[in-house]
Amino acid sequence: MTDPAEPHLTIVRHPLVQHKLTLMRDRNASTSTFRRLLREISQLLAYEITRGLEMTTRPIETPLMEMDAPVLDGKKLALISILRAGNGLLDGVLELIPSARVGFIGLYRNEETLQPVQYYFKVPEELGDRLVIALDPMLATGNSSVAAVDLLKKAGANNIRFLCLLAAPEGVKRMREAHPDVPVVAAALDEGLTEKGYIYPGLGDAGDRMFGTK
Ligand code: URA
Repeated sequence: MTDPAEPHLTIVRHPLVQHKLTLMRDRNASTSTFRRLLREISQLLAYEITRGLEMTTRPIETPLMEMDAPVLDGKKLALISILRAGNGLLDGVLELIPSARVGFIGLYRNEETLQPVQYYFKVPEELGDRLVIALDPMLATGNSSVAAVDLLKKAGANNIRFLCLLAAPEGVKRMREAHPDVPVVAAALDEGLTEKGYIYPGLGDAGDRMFGTK
């Protein structure tokens, strides 16, 4: 649902999303449970973020008759995973949209300055003709998310949406100020950020939890 005070932010309050998110937040959830829930929730979020995609019709024959049936219009959309945690959303969204093109942006966060440092960039061609969905589970300070959108725009993208699991108010504000044209879809808007830039109540380090690296 879109909040009139934050028209570019949509929080998906569907009971299945909220239930799965609670299970993920629980520190006792295993790596495999966390990963499975992230894949499931990513599909529910993808359902929301792809609402309003352009459609056309195609003539087909059902077993009973001919009809003009609705199909997606335009160039294949591009899913851009912001490494590494974006990959946790990518798998599920790709299951739902298997023909999507896929790109990767490698950014790590300098833990002292909290500023993003780019180490990889590979995206599909003709970004300007595609809907581009950037994927990162955590919109925290917004520094890396905004940097990723900067890079996508530099590469020609002009129709970008941002899909995350949790958003912090600071990250939402930063994205709105830097890229007011980029709608954000999230499962929850949390309370804030710790000194180290973690979202609270949050779920910890999304990458570590999905890959079992801590
Ligand atoms: N990245 C994470 O993985 N978790 C946070 O809380 C913030 C950024």
